Amino acid sequence: MTNTIGIDAGGTLTKLAYMNDQHEIQLQHFPSNDLPNVLDWINQHDIDEIGLTGGRTEQVKVLLDKVNSIHYIVEFEATLKGVRYQLEKEGYSFDKSIITNIGTGTSIHYMDAEKHMRIGGTGVGGGTLIGLASLTTGVHNYEEVLHLAKKGNRQGIDLLVQDIYQGMDSPTELQPTLTASNFGKVGINDETNYETEDVLATVQGLVGEVITTLSIQLAEQMDTEHIIYIGTTLDNNEKLRDIIANYTILKKKTPIFLQDHGFSGAIGALMNIIE
Ligand SMILES: Nc1ncnc2c1ncn2[C@@H]1O[C@H](COP(=O)(O)OP(=O)(O)OP(=O)(O)O)[C@@H](O)[C@H]1O
Ligand SMILES: [Mg+2]
Repeated sequence: MTNTIGIDAGGTLTKLAYMNDQHEIQLQHFPSNDLPNVLDWINQHDIDEIGLTGGRTEQVKVLLDKVNSIHYIVEFEATLKGVRYQLEKEGYSFDKSIITNIGTGTSIHYMDAEKHMRIGGTGVGGGTLIGLASLTTGVHNYEEVLHLAKKGNRQGIDLLVQDIYQGMDSPTELQPTLTASNFGKVGINDETNYETEDVLATVQGLVGEVITTLSIQLAEQMDTEHIIYIGTTLDNNEKLRDIIANYTILKKKTPIFLQDHGFSGAIGALMNIIE
């Protein structure tokens, strides 16, 4: 029997998906700047057939020239193939949906029974979360960013609609508790000292709100209710998921989070060769 694996080599993380002997999907990721680790893993597991996708495909190919057969699949195809598989496995069924992939950057797709297409994106993504966190607070480690952001509070930094419309009703289409300006209080206050936790929570809010705003607008444009949010940026990050979910629901759309949200591309690359 051939040993088969799907690899999604992304800007930040390289994701692996493979079937164990019980035909259950196993998943793992490595930093993309440490590809020799991926090679070691592949050598140890006697892999001879690889489905490959992602922006770092060429770098992986260079390392894997000994492997018998590599089947390349375009990233968007792989991601949507994986999402279709995951939806079915988790018992979802939609006529149409928006897929927002929050990777290093963010890519947004539309999918229905017949077709899929990329409909937009933004450079604001998981890379922005780490990059801005590091520049504003010096905290570089991803786990630590999450840990501190969780404890933070955005109220002293973000400017809300109700902060602008003081003593009067805000316009009817704007809820008073919506963010009017991410980081907007800083420029109009005398305060210069901010807690690291609060700055990180606010960075996370900015990233989550930009991505959700764009996803919602594209969902409206495509007349679609369900928005499926994927990407490793959602890993262990309940707060980011809450920001995304609450805003999506407020705008009368339905957010969906898949179980293995970071691995759609790798699963799709695997399915492309075993199905
Ligand atoms: N262990 C981790 N190490 C680094 N980043 C992590 C980790 N866990 C979660 N992340 C977050 O996940 C993001 C990367 O997500 P993902 O793996 O989906 O992107 P990618 O596929 O590498 O990038 P792209 O699809 O844009 O090429 C990082 O920017 C970071 O915010
Ligand atoms: Mg990716």
